[in-house]
Amino acid sequence: MRNLDELTITGEALRRLSETPDPRIKQIMVSLIGHIHEFARDVRLTEGEWLAGIHFLTRTGQLCSDVRQEFILLSDTLGLSQLVVAQNHSRPGGVSEQTVFGPFHVEGAPKRPSHSSDIAEGVSGEPLYVTAQVVANGQPVADAEVDTWHADAEGFYDVQDEHWSVDNAWLRAAFRTDADGRISFKSILPKSYPIPTDGTVGEMLAATNRSPMRPAHIHFKVEKEGFDPLITHVFAEGDEFLDSDAVFGVRGSCIGDYVRREPGVTPSGEKSDTPFFTLDYRFTLQPVA
Ligand code: BEZ
Ligand code: FE
Repeated sequence: MRNLDELTITGEALRRLSETPDPRIKQIMVSLIGHIHEFARDVRLTEGEWLAGIHFLTRTGQLCSDVRQEFILLSDTLGLSQLVVAQNHSRPGGVSEQTVFGPFHVEGAPKRPSHSSDIAEGVSGEPLYVTAQVVANGQPVADAEVDTWHADAEGFYDVQDEHWSVDNAWLRAAFRTDADGRISFKSILPKSYPIPTDGTVGEMLAATNRSPMRPAHIHFKVEKEGFDPLITHVFAEGDEFLDSDAVFGVRGSCIGDYVRREPGVTPSGEKSDTPFFTLDYRFTLQPVA
């Protein structure tokens, strides 16, 4: 077909998908082309704007490496990641809710015993004692894998440090729950922080006058055969950014009480001469249907 104009080109582009063998790929491509053509017509996209968009996406890809994922960050800040999470993990009341994964998880975090580790050794910050239990159907879930990771008091993840390696990681760990579904560890209090703004996502946020701030949180990934893997955060009650999270990840059920305690005996039985914080949280898994 020739002589296509700004209206007829969409039908022809869709017709060329008619032989797509995989029905799901066909469905996705048909919808993508339909929406993207409609978008270009809707805003009457100019050639200069489209080229600027291509350069933006090119630079986004060029920023990606083993330890930086600018495309995930872009998806997160456009609300697309949380939309995909929400439509794939709707939960009944009482089950822990799923949130965005974020770009800072790494496979192979240091394995730690169920209790008594300090995952913040040598990292400065206010001491935090975390106790958590994994349950399902009102029963403890023993031997679940619990992966955790969080930023330091300045808002940086270990992977953002040029000296980081997976064998020399901090503020991240992998635990297994004990017979009562419990883990505990010591760390430092997480603080609210800006997502990285030194790349294309930062340009997009600045151009739209948006805040890069995320409320303070600790990430958790909880997995056990027979249950939907849970990827979530525990945010801090009272944080000023809970309603304006740059990546739209806050769910009411994912807010925990980080409680400030006066000097005294800590949950791990040590004596602390300085104030410290505690977080006690319960993760409720959803059995797979
Ligand atoms: C994070 O919390 O680690 C995060 C999540 C999404 C985008 C950027 C950072
Ligand atoms: Fe985070």
